[in-house]
Amino acid sequence: MQDELRTIEEQARKEITGATSSQQLAEFRLKYFGKKGLVTQYSRTLGTLSPEERPLVGKLINNLRSRLEEALKDRQQELADQEAAAQFERERLDVELPGRPPRRGHPHPLQLIIEEITMTFLGMGFSVAEGPEVELDFYNFEALNIPPEHPARDMHDSLYITDNILLRTHTSPVQIRTMEKLYPHPVRIIVPGRVYRRDALDATHSPIFHQIEGLLVDKKVSFSDLKGVLTVFVHKFFGEDRQVRLRPSFFPFTEPSTEVDVSCVCRGQGCRICKNTGWIEILGAGSVHPKVLAMAKYDPEVYSGFAFGMGVERIAMLRYGITDIRQFYENDFRLLSQFH
Ligand code: PHE
Repeated sequence: MQDELRTIEEQARKEITGATSSQQLAEFRLKYFGKKGLVTQYSRTLGTLSPEERPLVGKLINNLRSRLEEALKDRQQELADQEAAAQFERERLDVELPGRPPRRGHPHPLQLIIEEITMTFLGMGFSVAEGPEVELDFYNFEALNIPPEHPARDMHDSLYITDNILLRTHTSPVQIRTMEKLYPHPVRIIVPGRVYRRDALDATHSPIFHQIEGLLVDKKVSFSDLKGVLTVFVHKFFGEDRQVRLRPSFFPFTEPSTEVDVSCVCRGQGCRICKNTGWIEILGAGSVHPKVLAMAKYDPEVYSGFAFGMGVERIAMLRYGITDIRQFYENDFRLLSQFH
């Protein structure tokens, strides 16, 4: 009997050390200590023994059971430790690895230009006005002295929504809207905004772009006031060393009309930017046409004014050396992240 128990113990210890998972240990427990387990069976035979043998054998079996239980517990702990170590290794985290910082937003280059230009005019006493992008034909054309059938409408390649509603082709309709609102007070506004034309997108054209309109209406405003204000603007925005040149032009809503050039950075030596002319066109302007003043009830005999309009993309391209207008709308982070 003692020998048998010793063999069982040896066999059992081998199985315990050989177990490689808690699953195997559970099977072991069943095999030895289950209802029909090897050790259990021995306990069952106790009843058949004599009263002298019974406590002795009982003690042997109990000792065996507790030694095996002990060994089982140790192995279980060992396996649990190993499994935990393996899991830690699998899920290893470098807690000191620096995090990836969230990318910062940047002001859009067009926004920067709009703000900078607006600021120079705020400094001259102008205020910001705005108007709708979906506009009535009346404000976009008629009130600006562009009647139906007028050839200037072709120039504008309008995007119509209905017969008399369109996406504004310029910021000039805000001239009329503001005069209507402020009459009979003097007007001194700057109007940044988005405008629309039926143009195909290429390196220099976009069907959606931005303009900044200016309008000043008061008593005794002259064409030389226009030149003075624009010269201050050019000096502040482009630099004190730049010159302003006015060329005669035509717009239905200004009379006389002019196109305004700024001298090129190449100082007339000729370069790609000015196409070797030494001058860069930056805006259209003129004295407000008497008919436009009258449309908004300002008496042209008493009031006069000037207006100008410039393309924001064009100026931003000059300022930042961007050669393709499409870059403004692609939102490529490599471009945007250069602006602060
Ligand atoms: N609205 C004109 C354009 O889009 C620009 C302009 C504005 C010209 C004001 C003169 C006065 O081309």
